[in-house]
Amino acid sequence: MTRDPRARRPLISRKTGVLLALPLLLAGCEGRQSVLVDGGADARILTDLFWVMLVGAVVLWVGMNGLFYWATRRNPAPHSQLAANWLVIIGGILFPTVTLGALLVYGLTLMPELRATGDGPVIRVTGEQWWWRVEYEREDGTTVTTANEIRLPAGVRSTFLLDSKKVIHSFWVPSLGGKMDMFPGRVTEMTLGPERPGIYRGQCAEFCGESHAWMAFEAEVMAPEEFDAWLDAEAAPAVEPASPEASRGAALFLSQGCGACHAVRGTHAVGRVGPDLTHVGSRHSLAAGRLGTSTEDFAKWVANPGAWKPGAEMPAYDHLTDAQIGAIAAYLEGLE
Ligand code: CUA
Repeated sequence: MTRDPRARRPLISRKTGVLLALPLLLAGCEGRQSVLVDGGADARILTDLFWVMLVGAVVLWVGMNGLFYWATRRNPAPHSQLAANWLVIIGGILFPTVTLGALLVYGLTLMPELRATGDGPVIRVTGEQWWWRVEYEREDGTTVTTANEIRLPAGVRSTFLLDSKKVIHSFWVPSLGGKMDMFPGRVTEMTLGPERPGIYRGQCAEFCGESHAWMAFEAEVMAPEEFDAWLDAEAAPAVEPASPEASRGAALFLSQGCGACHAVRGTHAVGRVGPDLTHVGSRHSLAAGRLGTSTEDFAKWVANPGAWKPGAEMPAYDHLTDAQIGAIAAYLEGLE
């Protein structure tokens, strides 16, 4: 059969395409939201498990395909009943029993360390639509409320008490350890023992509605003394507005009713529906990883949250003028 001369040749061959795509695929394994970049023992245990499983799977794949090739191409003649029986006994019973048994024992030996009890802070995280309510239980019995960001001291195991308001979410910081589902009306518990200071990224890992993919957070692992200083600062009331524009923003924030949903400790805003904004300007991201924390980002969010996070419960404040939104943004950005 001759080739149709009108048929266009593809721009790149299949082989070239695979070679070009490979770096992109591997690039997905790097960075601060990768199971292959570990920030502590939990993630390292899981990464080791991943490599053991991967190598095992590759060996099995090669073995099975080799057998298939041998049986169909190299030695396609019928085999004796005895040979077939042995193949079933060894390949179908003995080999899987031994292999899966060894994997089970290996997996079980990893569990005590992954389930170790915490000796660090206790952090209550509640899944909301689509953000994270974060509450630190302090030793003196008080609670420090923040949102969309987890900070952890390095070298100790923090305990997470996970809960959800409406639907199932899943709490996951791939570089720090495994994931845990968050159920409405039930508290699940997990511990994480990060070792390497740095900023990692967490992501909701259970489909929870239209903005599930925008439900992320930053997890910063800090030296213990830095963490203590941060938590003290986080427990303090909000700073006063530092400029006339921020003062106008603070007044607008209250007069527009923002305080019905948001708390800014030290002011009349004491709402509990939305994220606590007392120190929102010091966070790494706005709206659960959706936007940065520049004044422009705050303005974009306040003007129309639904444009950035479809289905977000916060209404748009597009009835305000640009100057008014800018003033509120300046106020929020200054809440460090
Ligand atoms: Cu929350 Cu997906």
